[in-house]
Amino acid sequence: MDKNALETSSDHQAMQAPAKVFLHTYGCQMNLYDGELVGRLLTQGGFALTSSIEDAQVILFNTCSVRDHAEKRVLGRIQTLSGLKRKRPGLILGVLGCMGQRLGEELREIAPEVDLVLGPDAYRVLPQLLKEKLDGGNGHHFFCAGDADETYGDILPQRREGVNAFVAIMRGCNNFCSYCIVPYARGRERSRPVEEILNEIRSAVADGFPEMTLLGQNVNSYRWGEADFPDLLGKVAQVDGLERIRFLTSHPRDLGDKLLSVMARGGKICPSLHLPVQSGSDRILERMGRGYTRAEYLKKVAQLRRDVADLALSTDLLCGFPSETEDDFGRTLELMEEAAFDGAFTFKYSPRPGTKAAEMKADVPEEVKIQRLERIIDLARTLADHSNKRMIGKTVQVLIENPSPQDAAEWTGRTACGRVALAPGPYRRGEFAAIRVEEVRGFSLWGRGQLETN
Ligand code: SAH
Ligand code: SF4
Ligand code: F3S
Repeated sequence: MDKNALETSSDHQAMQAPAKVFLHTYGCQMNLYDGELVGRLLTQGGFALTSSIEDAQVILFNTCSVRDHAEKRVLGRIQTLSGLKRKRPGLILGVLGCMGQRLGEELREIAPEVDLVLGPDAYRVLPQLLKEKLDGGNGHHFFCAGDADETYGDILPQRREGVNAFVAIMRGCNNFCSYCIVPYARGRERSRPVEEILNEIRSAVADGFPEMTLLGQNVNSYRWGEADFPDLLGKVAQVDGLERIRFLTSHPRDLGDKLLSVMARGGKICPSLHLPVQSGSDRILERMGRGYTRAEYLKKVAQLRRDVADLALSTDLLCGFPSETEDDFGRTLELMEEAAFDGAFTFKYSPRPGTKAAEMKADVPEEVKIQRLERIIDLARTLADHSNKRMIGKTVQVLIENPSPQDAAEWTGRTACGRVALAPGPYRRGEFAAIRVEEVRGFSLWGRGQLETN
């Protein structure tokens, strides 16, 4: 073939080839879900996703602001890319997500490498903005905050591989807990229409996801028309082919009897609940603006333990909040024991500019915070270990997910209560296996398929 013709055809292909985008998401499940929405918006807009920074014409970080450390990590990573940007002047670097919204225009100075900043409600404009910038547009648009009512109703997330699909049922938060940046980064709370949520779930089931996790900063305040959160759960449970339903996060103040009785009935609704308590001291809870007392929290836990069979209860704990004394902290340790948490995420307080707590005197020294954090981590581990050991001898239904990274002959999955389980295969992703638990390895249950042991 004529050499010129070949060159022409490959030039043509190069022009046609979609620009490649590297997208990395930090932060919570809601942010991961948003990353999946961005993935869809980009592919619909004619871009291709790549897992290689080297190949990418566009690098996007979907960021978290919840603690200072989360922001520092991304800013560090952005700085390491400045060399690459010098080598490849056309390369576009974008910041999405909560840090994008929080810092907005300030990022021009903090991170001069950055070309584009979008908050969590602004992703619809992303493909168009990227096209303009790739075509040499002059970068009028640096920061876009988006539409405060946005719920991305017509956009189906481009999900990562797996068995569990995230579905946002609402966005934003109205609670303004005094330590928390989320209401500033994600705006006011808005629920999505019931039918829209059901359609998204049906499509995820059709794509092979047997398990859903419904997401919201406070799912208990979901409302669409007459439907509240327990009503929504009832409707979701009727979706054919859906096997398991989980949800995140429940605010303890808003967890009512109606949800409790829906959970007690079980069925597709998994016996696992994440109920962040933050602190065991009433004085600190008050200053955090959480809207419940230690006694109210423990009363709900007692009801849950009584009514929901085999419930796994997890929580978030925050130590070192302004003015937290050793006595306050001791109350947190006591509460952990009393609630007998099956799992906990533990954090040390990080002041977030613009929040109410950031105005309070930061009087807990860093070394005290670190030491308290270590103590709650230790206790949380002990409690989780006890909780796992109670499973020995029981037979659990495990939704199989992947071969174990340590040993490909073993498969991992999750029990209905959300514990990780391991068992010798072979299995297939997406199948349910009855596994008899024989031991606890690290923080996982280990057992064998029931047919092998019988
Ligand atoms: N909407 C959820 C989760 C919000 S963020 C809820 O209400 O529980 C997840 C967790 O991060 C919080 O539960 C809290 O424990 C922690 N967190 C939030 N702000 C923080 C801060 N300023 N410093 C340290 N941890 C924080
Ligand atoms: Fe933050 Fe409180 Fe809203 Fe949770 S409920 S996101 S902790 S303000
Ligand atoms: Fe999530 Fe972090 Fe934003 S926890 S809501 S990504 S600040």
